Amino acid sequence: MPSTVLVGAQWGDEGKGKITDLISRDFDYVVRYQGGNNAGHTVIHGDKKLALHLIPSGVMYPDITPVIGNGVVVDPHVLTDEMAKLKAQGISCDKLVISCDAHIIMPYHIDLDGAEEKRLGKNEIGTTRRGIGPCYQDKAARTGIRIQDLLDEHIFRQKLETALSFKNPLLEKIYDLPPYTVDQICEEYLPYAEIIRPHMAETAQLLNTALAQGKNILFEGAQATLLDIDHGTYPFVTSSSCCAGGACIGTGVGPKKIDRVIGISKAYITRVGSGPFPTELFDETGEKLCEIGGEFGVTTGRRRRTGWFDAVIARYAADCNSLTDMALTKLDVLDSFETIKVCVGYESGGKVYDHFPMQQSVLYPKHVTPVYEELPGWNQDITGCRTFEELPENAQRYVEYLEEKVGVPMSIIAVGPDRDQTIFRGWDS
Ligand code: GDP
Ligand code: IMO
Ligand code: MG
Repeated sequence: MPSTVLVGAQWGDEGKGKITDLISRDFDYVVRYQGGNNAGHTVIHGDKKLALHLIPSGVMYPDITPVIGNGVVVDPHVLTDEMAKLKAQGISCDKLVISCDAHIIMPYHIDLDGAEEKRLGKNEIGTTRRGIGPCYQDKAARTGIRIQDLLDEHIFRQKLETALSFKNPLLEKIYDLPPYTVDQICEEYLPYAEIIRPHMAETAQLLNTALAQGKNILFEGAQATLLDIDHGTYPFVTSSSCCAGGACIGTGVGPKKIDRVIGISKAYITRVGSGPFPTELFDETGEKLCEIGGEFGVTTGRRRRTGWFDAVIARYAADCNSLTDMALTKLDVLDSFETIKVCVGYESGGKVYDHFPMQQSVLYPKHVTPVYEELPGWNQDITGCRTFEELPENAQRYVEYLEEKVGVPMSIIAVGPDRDQTIFRGWDS
């Protein structure tokens, strides 16, 4: 398939890194289109384990060109650090391309992210405090600073001066934080220009030309459908367009050029940060999912909240992203559960919803009772299975049941974190 979008179908951390890395070999370009270093994508192959935050997960293949698209927000410190860490592991970033139009995360964005969370107190969003929201705020306000601005010190200084004339009073007067000087930031940021300059390009043209030449492109989503600024559980979302449509916005490749959209879902569901979560488990079953699934954030180390698979959310994700396929990950985490529940609707105020409700307040624990269907577990280690037929009958039934509830073929099933712990099912690369 010439162009494929890979998108999180839940609240993030579904295993996008693993699946991107796994299918990357079929592609010439792997492109990040939104988010920034709020993402934490784990890639494991053999004895190599990488936690990637900004660089696309296709970087492990020397023939692939990894691209950071215009929709991404780039912290140059994190970028250069990640490039150095990869190099130290013998992975080259020489082919990395960075859009000249991507916005730069500035030090005041990081300060403001933390300060705003503190101000919100118990109503905090639970952000990663990486400056993501404030950077996208400036982008929308048309006061952001872009990668290409690093090329011209005069322009960079001018834009910084304009930004600081507003940011400094905000930092000092509202949040009681120290201000910045233009010189101070220039001293830190301008040296990054020398490292980034050879990687900079007008990536919309690069990618459209590549497609015209018959090359294959994989768009690697970060965060997920329910963290999307428009389609997620607002305001408990991130500040970018994580859904498949974001791949067009964040790269300049038009929608008619997208051939396939793969949604990644865990065989259960997790969420890190605040916000509604109808199937959240507060008991020992939730603890068990967390423990077996190793559910701790790759970026912040926070414990992820856990719950049963939510088919209402999965169907919503199928619609919002036009999913053609699903990849179901972490099926092995359910190996030791006697029975497994799947949420097929929400009961609230005497009404049953089989779709996402109009009012989000319906989704909060005090209002909602998930409608569950229960399936038998398989009580067997499936991490060694490599074909669908090798899976125990109840595991096969579980996958087929989810497929029927969601209405999208589950073409990839992951039974462990390694590249080879994967089952392809009717997958046509
Ligand atoms: P991403 O943000 O969507 O890329 O996901 P993360 O990397 O944040 O979290 C997914 C975690 O699950 C990582 O630790 C992966 O190594 C791990 N993982 C991915 N697929 C599987 C799987 O099928 N089984 C198990 N046990 N772990 C998996
Ligand atoms: P990957 O790509 C899970 C969550 C944060 C918070 C909200 C807003 O690894 O799946 P932000 O820092 O973006 O302003 O935080 O979004 N969040 C993620 N949750 N996985 C992620 O990325 C996330 N990136 C942001 O926890 O609730
Ligand atoms: Mg993650």
